[in-house]
Amino acid sequence: MAAEVPLVDHEYVMEIEKARQELRGMIVEKQCAPIMLRLAWHDAGTYDRETKTGGPNGSIRLEGEYNHIANRGIKAAIDLCEEIKEKCPKISYADLYQLAGVTAVEVTGGPTISFVSGRKDSSVIPPEGRLPDASQGANHLRDVFGRMGLNDKDIVALSGGHTLGRAHKDRSGFDGPWTSNPLIFDNSYFIELIEGEKTGLLKLPTDTCLMEDKVFRQYVETYAKDKDTFFRDYAWSHKKLSELGFIDH
Ligand code: HEM
Repeated sequence: MAAEVPLVDHEYVMEIEKARQELRGMIVEKQCAPIMLRLAWHDAGTYDRETKTGGPNGSIRLEGEYNHIANRGIKAAIDLCEEIKEKCPKISYADLYQLAGVTAVEVTGGPTISFVSGRKDSSVIPPEGRLPDASQGANHLRDVFGRMGLNDKDIVALSGGHTLGRAHKDRSGFDGPWTSNPLIFDNSYFIELIEGEKTGLLKLPTDTCLMEDKVFRQYVETYAKDKDTFFRDYAWSHKKLSELGFIDH
C-alpha cells in the first residue's frame, strides 16, 4: 500500500469535486467516455518503473507527445478537458486526465474507482513507442505492462477497457467496436472474446492473445462469467495504472 499519500488542501479537493461534476455532464452530453478513458490510459501507460519516467503526469497535453502515432485522435479529448481546466484552473492536467478516466468508467455503468488527487504536471515527453503495439501478442503485453510494474491480472482486467469505444481506420488502421454496446461499461468484452469472431465486431491481435495464453485465458473465463469479479479487479488495476509513479502499491 501507499507509503505516504500526498496532501492537497481543502480548496483543491473542492475544485476536484467541481471538475468531477463538470466531467460527468460533459461525458453524458457528448458521449465521449471512450476517448476520455483512452486519454487517461495513454497519459499513464508510458510509465517506466526503472527510470521513474513517463506515467500519469499530464505530459500528453504537449504537442510533442500527443503527436505520437499511438495517440492519434487523442487531441479531441485533450481539448474537451481544456474546457474543464478553464473552469477549474487549480487542478493539474495530470489529475484532470485521470479524473476524466475514472469518471468515464463510472458514468457508463462501470465500477467506482477510488481517486486520490495531488499528481504533479511534467513537461518531459517520454520516448515514442512505450504504449503497446496492437499487432503483437502476449510476450509484448508482458514486456510493456511489466515495464510499468503491472502484472498478468492487470493486463487482462485493463484490456476490459475495450468494453468502451471503437477503433477508427484513420487513427489506428483498425476498425469497429469490440462489443455491440460500446457506450456501456460491462463484461461484454470478455463474453465476446469467448464467443469468437462476429461480423461487425473487432478483435485486435492483443485481444485474441488473451484467449491463446493459458494464464490470461483463465482471467478471461472468470470475467466473462462473473461481472462482479471483473469490476472488483478492474477498479483495482485501473487505480494502480492511474497512480504509477505517484503512489506505490
Ligand atoms: C482504443 C490498442 C489497452 C482503452 C484502442 C485502439 C487500439 C487500442 C488500436 C483503437 C484506436 C482508434 O483507432 O481509435 C490497445 C492495446 C492495448 C490497449 C494494444 C494493450 C492491451 C487499453 C487499456 C485501456 C484501453 C488498458 C483502458 C483501460 C481503450 C478505449 C478505446 C481504445 C476506451 C476506444 C477509444 C475510442 O472509442 O475512441 N486501443 N489498447 N485500451 N482503447 Fe485500447
